[in-house]
Amino acid sequence: MKTVKDYIRTIVDFPHEGIMFRDVTTLFADPRGMRLAIDQLLDPYVGQRIDKVVGLEARGFIIGGAIAHQLSIGFVPIRKKGKLPGAVISEDYQLEYGEAVVEIHDDAIQPGEKILVVDDLLATGGTAEAGIKLVERLGGEIVGCAFIIDLPELGGRAKLDALGYEIHALCEFEGA
Ligand code: PRP
Ligand code: MG
Repeated sequence: MKTVKDYIRTIVDFPHEGIMFRDVTTLFADPRGMRLAIDQLLDPYVGQRIDKVVGLEARGFIIGGAIAHQLSIGFVPIRKKGKLPGAVISEDYQLEYGEAVVEIHDDAIQPGEKILVVDDLLATGGTAEAGIKLVERLGGEIVGCAFIIDLPELGGRAKLDALGYEIHALCEFEGA
């Protein structure tokens, strides 16, 4: 039986020399792979109350939409700066080189709603932490954060664990 990790392709030297890019498009393109990933992402949350799924741009939209549909609940996007049309709140976070900004519509979450945050990959945790802060600023309560891939050497999991968030990842890869 193939595991989720088996469906993920590695592209060497993308986007820069020395980077091993973990490509989830091969997982998403396979009907068994996609179903396996969505089922496993949801597994720890069976029986828990979740009001909305929040997906992080861009690959978090693909799995977030599928999870929300599976649970028959709503989906909320967190987008890179300047993409959302309505009133937003913003958070800065660090990238390898420089800073980035993510945004959420300020009316997308109601206080007390239980939120599952999803993305394809957890590396330094900067993106996920910014997303968590946006959700919490709107009064949402984080049920957990679910990822297909964790790169533990980059420290995101340790950072989010230390902050007390429940982290669920389907597989790990060595290195950056
Ligand atoms: C990648 C990945 C995660 C983030 C993880 O997204 O999809 O969202 O990096 O890195 P971090 O844990 O160090 O923050 P990227 O910023 O490349 O953008 P994209 O998903 O829009 O392609
Ligand atoms: Mg991303």
